Amino acid sequence: MTASAGSRKVTIVEVGPRDGLQNEERFVPSDVKVAFVDALSSSGLPAIEVTAFVSPRKIPQLADGDAVFPRVRKRPGVRYLVLVPNEKGLERALRAGVREIAVFTAASDGFNRRNTNASIEESFVRFRPVLEVASAEGVRVRGYVSCVFGCPYEGAVSPARVAEVAARLWAIGCREISLGDTTGVGVPSQVPEVVGRTVEAGVPVEGLALHFHDTRGTALANVCESLREGVRIFDASAGGFGGCPYAPGASGNLATEDLVHLLHGMGYETGVDLSRVAAATRMLQPSLGRQPASRVWHALASTAAVPSPAD
Ligand code: HMG
Ligand code: MG
Repeated sequence: MTASAGSRKVTIVEVGPRDGLQNEERFVPSDVKVAFVDALSSSGLPAIEVTAFVSPRKIPQLADGDAVFPRVRKRPGVRYLVLVPNEKGLERALRAGVREIAVFTAASDGFNRRNTNASIEESFVRFRPVLEVASAEGVRVRGYVSCVFGCPYEGAVSPARVAEVAARLWAIGCREISLGDTTGVGVPSQVPEVVGRTVEAGVPVEGLALHFHDTRGTALANVCESLREGVRIFDASAGGFGGCPYAPGASGNLATEDLVHLLHGMGYETGVDLSRVAAATRMLQPSLGRQPASRVWHALASTAAVPSPAD
């Protein structure tokens, strides 16, 4: 048990506009992306990852990030993040007016090479100038570690390796570390060791986020175990869309609707209006041409409890 284990306040980092859209077959028009983010921020979500300034050849679905980010309505008190892999991405972010970026690496070299054409070590070489400029510009930095419960290319991943990479990100100046179950292989019994070792290695549990994909239906069980370990920040994607194109079989992120329902039912406070998140998902869904994975979304839709984003 940690100090934050008694706190009832949970922060949700909405990654739908980035992780949710990056692996979709259809390109979502920029206008819809802007409206989606605005609808999400109207729900009370405190942090939204808007897009990624990565190679447009690698992730064509988010090639319009430079145009989308400046058009998003910036509500006071809401964090608007973008994913940045290198200096070029940071330059684009600064031009677009970004005040918080997220850098990303992995606990497995095999995955990191396929995702970013770099070993873990090489990714830290890329981060150095990014962190230097971000610090000089007063830009906050979040750090992701992918494949913390297993890797599609290397199999088992050691919690000690996860902790080492996470602590290194913290040491270079990342002020929130998100541990990603990229392909949704994790089960609750893995959570205490991964969280415990990461905290022991120097990342305060207050700065630790868990990022679950619900590929095998274990995401909410993993959230419950993380709550017991004192974690109070979770990433989620409206509707449960999402996945990484460089992780075969990585289907949707944990749905924001499912997470909010669970947390509120358990007496945690998020400040998020569930029906408004569901409205944002309903607004986005025709552009994707497929049904959301979120079970709570479907439960709400079947009782007509999903308002339109304008309501
Ligand atoms: P590279 O090929 O090694 O880089 O890619 P490069 O520096 O040699 O550049 C190659 C080309 O890309 C050049 O263009 C660059 O200008 C361009 P060319 O001269 O050939 O026309 N380029 C860029 N263009 C725009 N913005 C940039 C940029 N950088 C280079 N920032 C790189 C390395 C990392 C850039 C590439 O591999 C890449 O963009 N990968 C993106 C991977 C990605 O976005 N994956 C999904 C996100 S991670 C994830 O989903 C996991 C997470 O959700 C957590 C979890 O679930 O675990 C976060
Ligand atoms: Mg992800």
